Amino acid sequence: MEVADAIELRRSIRRFKNKEIPEGMLKEVLRAAHMAPSAGNLQGRDLIIIKDNAVKELLCMAALNQYFIMAAPVCIVVCANVSRSSARYGKRGELYAVQDSSAAIMNMMLMAQDLGLGTCWVGAFNEAAVTQLLSLPAGVRPVALIPIGYPDESPEVPPRMGEATEHWGKW
Ligand SMILES: Cc1cc2nc3c(=O)[nH]c(=O)nc-3n(C[C@H](O)[C@H](O)[C@H](O)COP(=O)(O)O)c2cc1C
Repeated sequence: MEVADAIELRRSIRRFKNKEIPEGMLKEVLRAAHMAPSAGNLQGRDLIIIKDNAVKELLCMAALNQYFIMAAPVCIVVCANVSRSSARYGKRGELYAVQDSSAAIMNMMLMAQDLGLGTCWVGAFNEAAVTQLLSLPAGVRPVALIPIGYPDESPEVPPRMGEATEHWGKW
């Protein structure tokens, strides 16, 4: 699939088929995360790959009962490794780690699209609950939960503000 097509065709998927993802595909998605750009190439992000249903259920609860997370065979929790980025960049490293995470998320979502898989960026969750559930160390913040699976819906394109958000030359 062309990158342009993956960008146009990707939708947030909140219904998944009851079907496992082949391990090779999951590896390709993870490889896409690793290949994303990062500040100083510090790769200020870490990925926690969740397949266990009991853990997924607890993630759903931490994510304000967004139960569609349960239906996906895999959920990748993308974490900003603020410690790693801040060791070199100080306060600015906090922002870089979140940007490093976001770049990895988009790479994974587009790779998943290319592989015929669906994803959703879930950012609404109780950070303390996810931190505790996954035993995240100090200096590591969960940024997003990314359920991945075979899509069982074809949503319409949600409207975009488009040109209204473009500021040419100055604000
Ligand atoms: C930072 C961020 C947080 C989001 N959090 C959630 C969420 O908690 N639950 C959800 O269903 N979708 C969430 N989304 C997905 C958006 O709702 C979705 O991207 C937007 O409506 C546009 O639709 P599209 O992804 O299909 O283009 C989030 C997206 C981003 C970028």
